[in-house]
Amino acid sequence: MWRASVLTILPDMFPGPLGSSLAGKALAAGGWALDVVDIRGFATDRHRSVDDTPAGGGPGMVMKPDVLGRAIDATAKDDRPRLLLSPRGSPLTQGRVEALARGPGIVLVCGRFEGVDERVIAARALEEISIGDYVLSGGEIAAMALIDACVRLLPGVMGAPASGAEESFADGLLEYPHYTRPQVWEGHAIPDVLISGDHGKIAAWRRAEAERLTRERRPDLWAAFLRHFRSGSRTG
Ligand SMILES: C[S@@+](CC[C@H](N)C(=O)[O-])C[C@H]1O[C@@H](n2cnc3c(N)ncnc32)[C@H](O)[C@@H]1O
Repeated sequence: MWRASVLTILPDMFPGPLGSSLAGKALAAGGWALDVVDIRGFATDRHRSVDDTPAGGGPGMVMKPDVLGRAIDATAKDDRPRLLLSPRGSPLTQGRVEALARGPGIVLVCGRFEGVDERVIAARALEEISIGDYVLSGGEIAAMALIDACVRLLPGVMGAPASGAEESFADGLLEYPHYTRPQVWEGHAIPDVLISGDHGKIAAWRRAEAERLTRERRPDLWAAFLRHFRSGSRTG
């Protein structure tokens, strides 16, 4: 079973939103497993300290390598990828999410304060992953985002099996626009082609819209699409 193990100093934050909707139903039904490990349980001093002042001075606190190292050693005993949520990590992509969802699961370390002592990152081979170019107050919400993105791809979790294959990033493009009833809303009609019943024309319109939106909104994705996807061979 696909398993997410989350190391955090705030275990009460979990499962949080992961306990609702499709992910929550699948969790309750045993479609995936979540272990939440309280890093503080591996502290040895009277105050159960998990952080200390930064070497060299400066603001904030740093997560201690000895405590975190013990927590990781007690948790990551298999070959699941060990990821540290970190704003300086590699940006998370749908391609990476798909690869992680195909594997046995993930071990996620949530940073807090100014971050984690560099030595434990290296010694426990933690791969740093970022969910975007902004700074959260801790890794927990980032971990939830990463787990949610993986879990919805697990077999049996998502309602309609085709929805994952057609959505944004699946073919290197953003998704085409959606419409539903009423046919006219505040004077705006659903595009004629979508009510034409001609599936070939609908597919062509959706493809053209996906390409237009990607070109207009995400020049970076559009350039990658032209390089890797347009030939029909998906390599990136
Ligand atoms: C306040 S942040 C630390 C920011 C750090 N001092 C820096 O400037 O890069 C505390 C923790 O939140 C998590 N975090 C913050 N932003 C993140 C992001 N964009 N992606 C993933 N994790 C993030 C990380 O685990 C980080 O250790």
